[in-house]
Amino acid sequence: MSNPVPLAEPTNFGEGQYPYALVNVTNVCNLDCRHCFVFRADNPQSPRNKMNDATMLHQLETLRDKHGIRSMLFMGGEPMIRKDMVLKAIKLFPESAVVTNGTYGIPSIPGHLVTVSLDGPADLNDLIRGKGVFAKVKEAVFARDASDGTTVILQMAVTRENSPGLEKFLEQVAEWPIDGVAFSFYVPVKNDETGLGWKDLKERDKVLERVIALKKKYPHVIKSHTATLEMMKSDRAIEWTGEHGEKCILRRDTLPLYMGDGGQFEKPFCCYGNDVDCTRCGAYAVFNRAYLASQGRGNAPRYGRDGSADAAPIVKDTAE
Ligand SMILES: C[S@@+](CC[C@H](N)C(=O)[O-])C[C@H]1O[C@@H](n2cnc3c(N)ncnc32)[C@H](O)[C@@H]1O
Ligand code: SF4
Ligand code: SF4
Repeated sequence: MSNPVPLAEPTNFGEGQYPYALVNVTNVCNLDCRHCFVFRADNPQSPRNKMNDATMLHQLETLRDKHGIRSMLFMGGEPMIRKDMVLKAIKLFPESAVVTNGTYGIPSIPGHLVTVSLDGPADLNDLIRGKGVFAKVKEAVFARDASDGTTVILQMAVTRENSPGLEKFLEQVAEWPIDGVAFSFYVPVKNDETGLGWKDLKERDKVLERVIALKKKYPHVIKSHTATLEMMKSDRAIEWTGEHGEKCILRRDTLPLYMGDGGQFEKPFCCYGNDVDCTRCGAYAVFNRAYLASQGRGNAPRYGRDGSADAAPIVKDTAE
C-alpha cells in the first residue's frame, strides 16, 4: 500500500500573532476591473490557482493555530471560483467573511458575512467591472433567500472615476434585499498613473463629504461611521496610516495571505499588496479600526450581522 502524499507545510511567517487574516484563495478572476490591486505587477499573483484544496485547508488550519487567527476574510481573484473549498474553509474560523464579485451567485453562509462588490450605478459599475455585470449581480442578490441568516452587504470601491455616481448608486440599491451598503476608497500604488485616484487628499475630502451627506439621508442603509469618514480627511489621514504604513493598525494585526511562487502563500507588505502609497490610502478598514480602538472597541468582532468587509475587513458598524 502506498503512503498518502504529505501535505506541504505553509511558509514560515514568523511568530507574530494575527487575530485577523485574509486569503486570496485563487489568483484567477472572470472580471478585469480597472482599479483592481490584486493583479498589479508588484504583487504575488503567479502561478495561478496552484494550491490544491487539501493543502490549502491544511495550511489555513496550521496558520490559524500558529498565529491565533480568529477572523478570516476569503477573497481572490474571485473566491467563488473555488466555492466548495471556501465553504469548507469558513468552518475553520469563528468568524468568516467572503468578498465576491457576485457573478457566480451569492453563497449562503448563515452567521457569516458576504460582501458583494458593485462600483456605482449600472453605467459606471459596468465601465469598471464589465458590461452587464450590474444586472447579473442584481439578479443574484434578488434570487437568494434573504432569510437564510447570511449577512449581505454591497461594497463600492470609490474612485475619482465612479465618484460622480454615488447618489445615483444609493437611489438604485437602497431598496434591495440586503443588510446595507459600505464604501471604501481607492488604494493607489506609489506614483499611481491610472487617473483613478484624486489629485490630492483635499480633492478626496469633497467626496467624503458627499458620503457623509448620504449617510444622513440613508442612516440605516449606509454602514460607514461618520466619525471614521471624518478621520479619512486630508488634515488627519496620515495619523492613522503613517508615510509607510507604520501607523496602520490593519498592517499590524492582519495577516495577508497571497498565492505566490511555488504554490505557497506569500505575505505582501499589506492587505493591498506591495508598493502601495500609504499617504493616499483609502482603505476604510484602516481608519475604522483606528476609530474603534479610540472608542475602546479594538477587539470588537469584525464580521457580524451588521458588519461589512473591505479588501480587509470592516468591523461591526452601527448607524449614527
Ligand atoms: C480584490 S477584490 C476580490 C474579491 C472579488 N473578486 C470582488 O471583486 O469582490 C476585493 C475588494 O477590493 C476592492 N478593490 C480592488 N482594487 C482596489 C483598490 N485599488 N483600492 C480599493 N479597493 C479595491 C474591490 O472593489 C473589491 O470590493
Ligand atoms: S476587483 Fe475582484 S472581480 Fe475585479 S478584477 Fe479584482 S479580483 Fe476580479
Ligand atoms: S492598508 Fe495600511 S499599509 Fe496598506 S496601503 Fe493602507 S495604510 Fe498602507
